[in-house]
Amino acid sequence: MERSLILLKPDAVQRQLIGTIINRIEGRGLKLIGLKLIKMSNELASEHYKAHIEKPFYKGLVSFITSGPLVCIAVEGNNAVSLIRNSMGSTNPVDSHPGTIRGDLAIDIGRNLIHGSDSVEEGSREVNLFFTPNELITYSLANEDWITEPQ
Ligand code: RTP
Ligand code: MG
Repeated sequence: MERSLILLKPDAVQRQLIGTIINRIEGRGLKLIGLKLIKMSNELASEHYKAHIEKPFYKGLVSFITSGPLVCIAVEGNNAVSLIRNSMGSTNPVDSHPGTIRGDLAIDIGRNLIHGSDSVEEGSREVNLFFTPNELITYSLANEDWITEPQ
């Protein structure tokens, strides 16, 4: 089963959009298996964004992501990674379609509200980076068969 890590970045927390964004994720039928508020350390930020270490925006990105509390969410389900990436919109909100989180709620690439894992491999790595095994809860949703056709 696919897993994806979602971060509601410090701008989402400061703009009091936590509920609004979680509402969209839940509304799609995605299942949350982990949820917490943290302040990201520099160590965790550099491990999480290690693919971008050489990029010109890296320093600003780490400084922003460690600047205040953020919400970590682990999601599990078929196609969880691409469902979330599609709901988020493009990296730059200028290119994000209306109806997406960034397309409806953000305007600046450096304040784009939400992170979502960009591949199945990264989803697994990132969920394990942010959550210990006992912080992840496996359970069934009562309405599961009304969201996903049973195989
Ligand atoms: P994220 O990792 O945060 O979910 O965002 P993403 O996959 O859509 O974008 P990614 O390419 O992984 O970049 C990570 C974050 O770095 C900032 N960024 N700035 N100025 C720039 O050209 C630039 N490019 C990326 C964004 O805040 C992006 O979310
Ligand atoms: Mg990314």
